[in-house]
Amino acid sequence: MMGLLLLLLLSSYLHQGCQVTAQRLFTIRAVSLTVEPDSDSSRGTNVTLRCQAVVSSSGPEPLVREFSVFRDGSRVYTKTSSSSEDFLYLLPDARVSNSGKYKCEVSIEGKSMSSESRRLTVRGLSKPALHLNKDVVTEGEEVTATCRAPGETGSIFFYFYDNGNEIHEERVNGNQAEATLRFSSAGIHKIRCDYTVLITPDSYKSEESNTAIVSVKELSITPVLEVSPQYQVFEGDTLNIMCTLRNLLRSLDSPQLYLSQGTHLLSSGTTKVNHSMVALAKGPGLTFECRLDMGHVIKVATRTVLVTELFSVPTLTLAPAEVFQKEPMTLTCRSENVASERLDRKELTYTLHPLENPLISTDTGVFTGKALLFDFNYTCTAEARDIVKQSETLTVRPKVSVSTPKISIYGKAVLGQPIQILCQSDIGSLPINYTLLKGFDEVSTISVQLPGQRAIFRVTAHMPEELSKYMCEAKNSHREAPLSRRLNATVIVPLANPTLTVLPHLPDISEGDHLYLICAVKGSPPVTFKWYRVGDKLPLNTTTTDKNHKDFQIPALSKQDSGIYYCEAVNHANTIVQSDRVTIEVRMALWKKAVIGGVSLLVVSLLLLMACVLYFRSKRVRVPRAAVSVWSERKPEDVNDEESSTVNHEPDVEYTEVVHPHSVDPTRAAPLRKGTDTVYSELQKSSHDAADHHDYGSVQYAELNKEQSEINQYNPEINSAPDLPVRLD
Ligand SMILES: *[C@@H]1O[C@H](CO)[C@@H](O)[C@H](O)[C@H]1NC(C)=O
Ligand SMILES: *[C@@H]1O[C@H](CO)[C@@H](O)[C@H](O)[C@H]1NC(C)=O
Ligand SMILES: *[C@@H]1O[C@H](CO)[C@@H](O)[C@H](O)[C@H]1NC(C)=O
Ligand SMILES: *[C@@H]1O[C@H](CO)[C@@H](O)[C@H](O)[C@H]1NC(C)=O
Ligand SMILES: *[C@@H]1O[C@H](CO)[C@@H](O)[C@H](O)[C@H]1NC(C)=O
Ligand SMILES: *[C@@H]1O[C@H](CO)[C@@H](O)[C@H](O)[C@H]1NC(C)=O
Repeated sequence: MMGLLLLLLLSSYLHQGCQVTAQRLFTIRAVSLTVEPDSDSSRGTNVTLRCQAVVSSSGPEPLVREFSVFRDGSRVYTKTSSSSEDFLYLLPDARVSNSGKYKCEVSIEGKSMSSESRRLTVRGLSKPALHLNKDVVTEGEEVTATCRAPGETGSIFFYFYDNGNEIHEERVNGNQAEATLRFSSAGIHKIRCDYTVLITPDSYKSEESNTAIVSVKELSITPVLEVSPQYQVFEGDTLNIMCTLRNLLRSLDSPQLYLSQGTHLLSSGTTKVNHSMVALAKGPGLTFECRLDMGHVIKVATRTVLVTELFSVPTLTLAPAEVFQKEPMTLTCRSENVASERLDRKELTYTLHPLENPLISTDTGVFTGKALLFDFNYTCTAEARDIVKQSETLTVRPKVSVSTPKISIYGKAVLGQPIQILCQSDIGSLPINYTLLKGFDEVSTISVQLPGQRAIFRVTAHMPEELSKYMCEAKNSHREAPLSRRLNATVIVPLANPTLTVLPHLPDISEGDHLYLICAVKGSPPVTFKWYRVGDKLPLNTTTTDKNHKDFQIPALSKQDSGIYYCEAVNHANTIVQSDRVTIEVRMALWKKAVIGGVSLLVVSLLLLMACVLYFRSKRVRVPRAAVSVWSERKPEDVNDEESSTVNHEPDVEYTEVVHPHSVDPTRAAPLRKGTDTVYSELQKSSHDAADHHDYGSVQYAELNKEQSEINQYNPEINSAPDLPVRLD
């Protein structure tokens, strides 16, 4: 109970306490910054930044305020005020360096508020003032120049100019800079200065200062360069070069002399330098320099000496220009020009390098020997009076003679079509000129320049024997060119005149015959033959042979083999030729006709027999021998189906007598036989009358088949009995 009471008390105390701590209520309503008299002022204006804070508070007393001024983001000033008056930030006699972006901030008891930013621009820089401590000096003497920027503040760069050229630069945090100037040339020097005030990110440049004049007097001290001899200097002569000083008046300066030739320092000293050397002929002449270095004074004297060559750089030459492996060659080393007034040509000695070379020196500078098998570099030197001159490197590249070329066909040779002939030597240095000859006439030349390149000639042959006239030669030197053998190649003759021959002869083709389709062409084998029947997509057969003809066989023809046939042939010339079309009509087999005829006869005979039997039964008593007499009186030519069938019913003797003369068929080679064979002859004849009768008996089958075999003149053994039932239809 007590605890709860305490807690209530505490909380009410704390609630009141907050109000007690923030003794007074207030709020900062606005903060503003104004620039007086103008945000864009000229130099020297008394500029005021006015910061005004509008604060609402509950009490009469003004609150303690803290004002801060920021320039370009940095705090530059802070002041605490207990009055409610505006805060003034003074920039008396404003300078360019006061330019910037200003902001004011007010803080009251932890609360703060900033004004908007205001930019202040101050224009105009003061004119720089230049002052020199001397106006007359001698070369090398120092002058102190002072440049001032009156009234300016901030970071300032000062620049000094001599006759318009900038000679010195100095950065200071103040409004004046000092420079030590020296002059390398005598005469009048016009000195000026100016400055730049740096207010990041801008800079403001002042106008130019007044001009100060310095008169620089030349130092009388000079270096003197003497070279002897001065003229008519030849290679090998000794040159004396002397560098001295003239008019050395003051001894306080410590002069230093440097004698050099180009970038090569020959010697140095204080007052006199001597140097002697052997003259060498180099370029446009020898240039010497004598340089005096005395503190800040540098003086130079130069002299160029022309040196005449005693003898020129030797040249190394090769003869003959084209050298072949292991063949003689001559290298000659010679200096073209010799200063005859000083040197006798005989004094010159020549040496060939490398020294361990296999060549023999025969005369001054002439070296002979045999060429090596590989490339070799030579140089030579000419020497006289201790002067040695080296030639340029001569690389001797011995060539390899071309070997006898081989001539061959490249690809295939087809008569009448372009043929490529390759001419090639196994060895030989490039370039090689290959020339194709036909007989003794040059056809053309191909120059092979690069490895891998080939000499391929294009010709056309119209006769097969024409190709053997071609030869070729290879040439890679001025010597005689080796000649190849004659071209040994066969020409493919394109196919022509295709014919398709059919055996047996077309009108004689019948079922069961063995058919030969013989395709023949003119042209070069191997030939691929194809036989086609019109209507079939695929060829009947495809055969390649080394002959010009080939047959395709159908061992036993059937009615379905009738059709239109042709053949096709192709060889390596790639032209396809086609024969004429041949129409084959397979006739019905003879034995079939015979069977049909036989059956018809049999039927007719049976009918007749029945009629006769009936007749005889009615007339037998009256005329018993009438029939016999009828047969006897008739001529053999009149025998017909009716009679034959009648005969079959009669005894054998009579039959033979009657039939025999009629079986002699002059168109048939088949001999007549006894017995059943004779039936054939008769049937053969009668078949004309009963061709379409398929209803035949199997009685005579085997016998007829025997006959059929004998008729077939092409392949007698093929027509065996088992095949026949298949053929029947
Ligand atoms: C600037 O104020 C100074 C006194 O602080 C006064 O002498 C001077 O004349 C004023 N300059 C201008 C341009 O008002
Ligand atoms: C410098 O060279 C000259 C010849 O030109 C010679 O007479 C003299 O003695 C030499 N002096 C020195 C110091 O070598
Ligand atoms: C010959 O000299 C040339 C350079 O002048 C060099 O490239 C070449 O390798 C040398 N040949 C031989 C065989 O030394
Ligand atoms: C090869 O032929 C070219 C021109 O076709 C000719 O300039 C060159 O001298 C010939 N070279 C030889 C070794 O005959
Ligand atoms: C031509 O070449 C064939 C083989 O390619 C060869 O049998 C024949 O002897 C050669 N003829 C000649 C004349 O060299
Ligand atoms: C083509 O005929 C030949 C015999 O002339 C034979 O050996 C071959 O098998 C036949 N080829 C075809 C596809 O019938």
